[in-house]
Amino acid sequence: MEKDQFLEVGKIDEIPLGKMKHVEMQGKEIVISNVGGKFYAMEDRCGHMNARLSMGNISNDGIVTCPFHGARFDATTGKKIKEPVLTPSQQMEPLPKSWQSYLEHAGELMSYIKTYDQQTYEVQVEDNKIKIRI
Ligand code: FES
Repeated sequence: MEKDQFLEVGKIDEIPLGKMKHVEMQGKEIVISNVGGKFYAMEDRCGHMNARLSMGNISNDGIVTCPFHGARFDATTGKKIKEPVLTPSQQMEPLPKSWQSYLEHAGELMSYIKTYDQQTYEVQVEDNKIKIRI
């Protein structure tokens, strides 16, 4: 297969406005987003601990929130715009002491894990086909 070729990943009506779709191509997992009627593609595995971003949420302005620890990425650029949240919410019921110390320990370990920007891919729309360059 020729390098830099645009490959079809779906049809435009499969990804309505403000939605995401997970695709796998050439060993890569990619999320295609429809932001304001324009399509964007970025790596689907979160740059923190590999959760699938396409299982999270996307806002109308294209901010994707990871379903695991809430890191946020701009679907249009792949840039990380918010670090993951590593501590339990204050609104949670108090946890048993053993859980609290486990979570504190896990939070400390996770604080050493860096979260990176997501790789993005160039998108082309031809007729009703969405194509990306891998
Ligand atoms: S895996 Fe995405 S924020 Fe942790």
